[in-house]
Amino acid sequence: MDSCATPRWLSPMARSCLSGRLDRWPMSASTLAVPACCRASWTHTHLVFAGDRALEFTSRMAGRPYDGGGIRVTTDATRAAFDDDLRALAATRMAELRAAGTTTVEVKSGYGLNVDDEARTLRLATEVTDETTFLGAHLLPAEYEGRADDYIDLVCGPMLEACAPHSRWIDAFCETGAFDVDQCRAVLDAGRAAGFGLRLHGNQLGHGPGVQLAVESGCASVDHCTYLSDSDVEALAGSDTVATFLPATDFSTRQPYPDARRVIDAGTTVALATNCNPGSSYTTSMSFCIALAVRDMNMTINEAVQAATLGGAVALRRTDVGRLSPGSAGHLVVLEAPSHHHLAYRPGVPLVRQTIT
Ligand code: NIG
Repeated sequence: MDSCATPRWLSPMARSCLSGRLDRWPMSASTLAVPACCRASWTHTHLVFAGDRALEFTSRMAGRPYDGGGIRVTTDATRAAFDDDLRALAATRMAELRAAGTTTVEVKSGYGLNVDDEARTLRLATEVTDETTFLGAHLLPAEYEGRADDYIDLVCGPMLEACAPHSRWIDAFCETGAFDVDQCRAVLDAGRAAGFGLRLHGNQLGHGPGVQLAVESGCASVDHCTYLSDSDVEALAGSDTVATFLPATDFSTRQPYPDARRVIDAGTTVALATNCNPGSSYTTSMSFCIALAVRDMNMTINEAVQAATLGGAVALRRTDVGRLSPGSAGHLVVLEAPSHHHLAYRPGVPLVRQTIT
C-alpha cells in the first residue's frame, strides 16, 4: 500500500514537485492526496464512439441478457459520424474521466470494424491518449456474417497494417458469440509479429479459454475475468499477465461479481478499470469501481485503491504512473475526505476536488 496511499502531508521532495500545481496548499485536515487512477478506465475504455444504447440497458434491467450484439448498433452510428463529432465526444468523455480522478487512459477501438473506420477511430484516439489499442476483433460486422475466418484474415492483414501507426496494443474479444480461441490466437500472433503489445478480453460472459490463451500468449493483461476456474487462477498466478477486473460491467450487465480474493491470494497482480463504453459499462467513475470491488469482490479498500492505480500501471507496463516515487510523473488526485476509505464508504459522492498532472 506504500506506493498508493499518500498521507495528508507530503515529503519536501513531493511538495517541491507539486509546487504551484495544487489549487490550495496546505491542504485542509479533511483533504487527502492519492495517486491518480490510471486506465479506465485506467486501462480499458472504448471512448471513441457515437450513438446511445440506453434502451438496451433498460431492456436488460427488464431481464434481457447482455450478449455483446449491441456492438453493431454502435458500429453503425460510429461509421456514420464525422471526425469532428467523434473528436468532441471523445474529448468530453476524457474530461469526465479526468474530473473523476483518472489521468492515464487506455482507449480501444472496436466500433469501426472495417479498415478505414478502425484506423480513423484509432487516429482520433491518439489525440487524447498515447495508450491506444487496436480491437478490430471486437465483433463480427454484419457484412461478414457467416464468414468469420475471412474477417479475421482482414483484421490480421490490411486492417492491422492501417491501424499500426495509431496503436500501441492489440486486443481481441475471446467469447462465445464473438471470436473463438483460434481466431483470437491468430490476432495475437499477427499483432506480436507486427510489434504490438498484447491484451485480451476473456471470461466475461462465461467460462472459456480466454485467460489460458492470454497467459500462453504473454498478454500484458486479460480483462473481465468474471468467470474463473481453478486452473485459470493457477495459470494467472504463474504468469506476468495482470487480471483486470471491470466490476461496473458486471453491475451493468447483471453478471455475478468475480471473487478477486482468490486471485490476489494466489499472487497475481490485479487491476481495476471502468471499461467506459456505450454497451456494457457507461461510467467514467473509478470511485464507483472501487466501491463495487470492496462491497462485492472481497477486496480490501487498500487492495482496491492499489488495483486502480499501481495495478493499472502494471497492466500498461508503465512505471511512471500509478505510484508516487522518485522519478514518477507525480499524478495526484485530491479528495475531499479524511481517508481513502471514503472512496468505498461514500459511493456515488463526487469526492475528487482536483486532479493534478
Ligand atoms: O469490454 N466485451 C466486449 N466489449 C465491451 C463491450 C462493448 C459493447 O457492448 O459495446 C466490453 O464490455
